[in-house]
Amino acid sequence: MSTDPTDATASSSQTEPVLLITGASSGIGAATARLARREGWRVVLAARSAEKLEALAAEHGGPEQAIAVACDVTDWEAQQRMVQAALDAFEGIDAAFANAGFGGARGFLKDTPEHWREMVLTNVYGAALTIRATIPALTSSQGHLLLTSSVAGRRVLPGSFYSVTKHAVTAMGEAARQDLNGTGIRVTLIEPGMVDTPFFENKPTDALQDDDIARAVLYAISQPPHVDVNEILVRPTAQAG
Ligand SMILES: NC(=O)c1ccc[n+]([C@@H]2O[C@H](COP(=O)([O-])OP(=O)(O)OC[C@H]3O[C@@H](n4cnc5c(N)ncnc54)[C@H](OP(=O)(O)O)[C@@H]3O)[C@@H](O)[C@H]2O)c1
Repeated sequence: MSTDPTDATASSSQTEPVLLITGASSGIGAATARLARREGWRVVLAARSAEKLEALAAEHGGPEQAIAVACDVTDWEAQQRMVQAALDAFEGIDAAFANAGFGGARGFLKDTPEHWREMVLTNVYGAALTIRATIPALTSSQGHLLLTSSVAGRRVLPGSFYSVTKHAVTAMGEAARQDLNGTGIRVTLIEPGMVDTPFFENKPTDALQDDDIARAVLYAISQPPHVDVNEILVRPTAQAG
């Protein structure tokens, strides 16, 4: 895969490479789309909030540069439609960022069993479906797969079922990396510390900004083909946990 937009060998087309992002309607996903556009990528914006995505796609230059695809990542058929929409619009996918996810309260007596179910379906099953749906296109492009895990996917937080789901995502990234060895696809786990996004009901203090994580994503996908950045863990300076 060439990620240099001026390189005439870019694989999805002869123009700008294509980045598909789930969870693109807000926070880290939206910031990554913004920075990717500035760095010469076309973007496929996926999430459930169709209106927000349409507005973002319009800001990013409209259908030649950015498309919005309503997709609930827990729905396999919706994920397949998302990939088809990307291929119809742009002919290929050079990088796929499985980023959709949400958190919950700490404590095994907190939240509801239904909240846990949705969290597993979104954070774990949804990410796995994105991998499954994008492998054929990424194989054709010799592309790049990225997953948003978390610092909570590297260390256990007390009573955090969210941390359990993110450990699964960390394992999934390594499992996918080994499975995809030999295909030319690179795999990167993005592991943010605390980031100031709508993920939190109350605005966090001393947190990273969404753009700080977007830069990590763009760093990973801008490396030459022989470099596979497997994990990037980014905390705000002096985060305790
Ligand atoms: N903020 C942090 O401190 C932090 C730290 C570490 C890791 N993370 C991870 O970073 C990722 C992005 O979170 P964020 O902080 O940017 O929070 P956010 O602003 O709340 O963004 C979450 C995104 O996920 C989407 N989403 C949720 N459920 C979905 C579903 N079923 N199908 C499709 N899209 C879905 C949301 O869009 P719709 O509601 O429109 O579907 C939204 O675009 C998550 O995986 C989160 O766990 C965040």
